Amino acid sequence: MKKEKILLKNGSVVSGEGTFERDLLIENGKIVEGVEVKGAKVIDCAGKLILPGLIDVHVHFREPGASYKEDWTTGSSAAVASGVTTVCDMPNNTPPTTTVENLEKKRALIKGKTYCNYGLYIGYDGKNLAEIKKAKNIAGVKVYVANSTGNMGVDNEALEKLFKEFDGRIVTHAEDEGIIEKNSKEFLAEFEGREIDPAVHSKIRSVEAAESAVKMVCGLAKESKAKLHVAHVSCDAEVEVIAKHKEFGVTCEVAPHHLLLSDDDYSVWKNFIKVNPPVRSRLDVFSMWKNLKFGVIDMIATDHAPHTIEEKEQSYEKVPSGVPELDTLLPIFLNTVNDEGMTIEELVGYLCEKPAQIFGIKNKGYLKEGYDADIVVVDMDLEKKVERANLCTKCGWSPYEGSNFKGWPVMTFVGGEL
Ligand code: DOR
Ligand code: ZN
Repeated sequence: MKKEKILLKNGSVVSGEGTFERDLLIENGKIVEGVEVKGAKVIDCAGKLILPGLIDVHVHFREPGASYKEDWTTGSSAAVASGVTTVCDMPNNTPPTTTVENLEKKRALIKGKTYCNYGLYIGYDGKNLAEIKKAKNIAGVKVYVANSTGNMGVDNEALEKLFKEFDGRIVTHAEDEGIIEKNSKEFLAEFEGREIDPAVHSKIRSVEAAESAVKMVCGLAKESKAKLHVAHVSCDAEVEVIAKHKEFGVTCEVAPHHLLLSDDDYSVWKNFIKVNPPVRSRLDVFSMWKNLKFGVIDMIATDHAPHTIEEKEQSYEKVPSGVPELDTLLPIFLNTVNDEGMTIEELVGYLCEKPAQIFGIKNKGYLKEGYDADIVVVDMDLEKKVERANLCTKCGWSPYEGSNFKGWPVMTFVGGEL
């Protein structure tokens, strides 16, 4: 089907290099130049910024297996509502995406249900290297160094084998299972016979647990020259290790909750902000901002991990880890730009250009001639409160409810379609 020709007129187009007033012509889902504008539908973007569609390399849409929390229609709605035009989905589903058959079944079930582009990870369970080598067109391999939602943790020997034998991108959830187990015994004993304080989560899944696991995977990457991307860095100690391994090609992402929430927030949010890796001290939060600014942290990715309100209201041991993040991603960081905490060009770097570069996503992340017309138009002056009623995620809550953000997306185009 031939798509509508559209002219975005009078807006300011943002890239990592600067912001320039420029009209953008879209034809057949691509950005075109030197083409007759006659016949195009004109959309006036005066006073608005035009950014490349955001790329979120870390989401957990819950299909198959838990579509009561999120499905591809609701998850991708939350994405495009936040200017995200491409997501990469994690493999901890039921059944897990650890075989080519499950991967292809997942692709089939997504067809016709998504508003955004997507890539899929295949999971490593320690035994499926042959399947991984057969898998085609994947965003990468996801490996859990420790158990998290889905219990996909693998042992060190299996990990070494993956780094030695797989030459694609390896994305790790790096926490040390041994340290977590030891801490669990020690810290949970204190709560014998009474309700467990949710703040214990940050003590159990400690900074040491993250640091130790990250040391190990960075060491393996250095030795094997594998392409390692460390998911959701959360603390200074961990990022220090990564800083020493950037020269070996190690990259990493930070999630919004590790930039906005800290262990002070347990008093309000209780188990709702139970997440792996956990929220950290305010000093660690500061370190995340600093390392993002200085380029040790390459990008922002949401780790959007929806669980229902009922699930989150249970007692500590039963509450699944994870927080929803997609609906609020762009407003959070546009608000940061308005507060002069980052420039709009840096934002485009962290959320569009770097993910496209590092994950090798062709024709996306930039608004260049011939690139896909994945575009978000933003109003930097629009102020709105995050309200439950306006969320698209099926889980129906956000840790930022009640926050007032200035700067919101007003239009998202995916492949030239509004
Ligand atoms: O908190 C988390 N939630 N961490 C993970 O590793 C998985 C995720 C989920 O799928 O809920
Ligand atoms: Zn995750």
